[in-house]
Amino acid sequence: MSKKIRKAVFPVGGLGTRFLPATKAMPKEMLPVVDKPLIQYAVEEARAAGIEDLIFVTGRGKATIEDHFDHSYELESVLSERNKKGLLQELQASVPKPGSIAYIRQQEPLGLGHAVWCAKRLVGDEPFAVILADDLILADTPCLAQMVEAREKVGGGNMLAVMEVPHEHTSRYGILSLGEEKGNLVTINGLVEKPAPKDAPSNMAVIGRYILEPEIFALLETQQRGAGNEIQLTDALSAMLGDIPFHGMKFEGTRYDCGDKIGFLEANIAFALNRADMRDDILAIVKKIAATL
Ligand code: UTP
Repeated sequence: MSKKIRKAVFPVGGLGTRFLPATKAMPKEMLPVVDKPLIQYAVEEARAAGIEDLIFVTGRGKATIEDHFDHSYELESVLSERNKKGLLQELQASVPKPGSIAYIRQQEPLGLGHAVWCAKRLVGDEPFAVILADDLILADTPCLAQMVEAREKVGGGNMLAVMEVPHEHTSRYGILSLGEEKGNLVTINGLVEKPAPKDAPSNMAVIGRYILEPEIFALLETQQRGAGNEIQLTDALSAMLGDIPFHGMKFEGTRYDCGDKIGFLEANIAFALNRADMRDDILAIVKKIAATL
């Protein structure tokens, strides 16, 4: 039986340059979709998959993330005085249990691979999840829970969430060279980071959900810089191929790239339309705007 996935790493050390100026003084992960910051969706997804320990790899200017997952006694006492019980409970429930959340600083944003490596000591010698909060997924069963279940069925190993992307967008993603496909699982023969469309082995892309075996840390330790002059997680993963079971999972749900302005706006509309308390108003607004074009 595969080991239980107890820990999740949230790399939040990136600069978010695609979202400037919004991200100059505010972390990208604190951008709200409807009324919740991206990072809270990510943490909720982790909890729904049975994750017990949350590990944030942060950087300069990310302190509001720590504040968000802490108590705000002044606010809580005002809500209590005003008898806003529902809101109070919601806020209190979003604070992780004492001792279950840890922060480690990535002093320089050298890339996603480096950010994951920074979590090495906190993860230790067990398989773990990585969630990129700016990849937001709307799904009936949260994506990481789908992955945990799929991984148990295949008996462990690395598991990456994958999806088809338009061929002309391959240079934005890690792209798979596909092996055998069985149901929603694909075996992975190769991985290449951000290939030009003409060099891409497929249009199946890795998105921001991973379950990784701890052997990745040794590979990241010596990983040279790759695409974009950054230490790429994909390159280290590539070196693990053939050694352990390695699957891509075509998840059920829709993924929104909230690190990108258009993807973020689309996510806001989709998540608002998905809420019973907003759907009719948002539909009316969208129709009204479209009618004026
Ligand atoms: P991105 O590729 O989106 O980079 O990182 P970014 O810096 O956040 O944003 P842009 O491209 O400049 O707009 C993917 C994920 O990896 C994290 C980011 O925080 C994001 O969750 N990351 C990236 C780090 O934690 N550290 C890094 O050095 C780079």
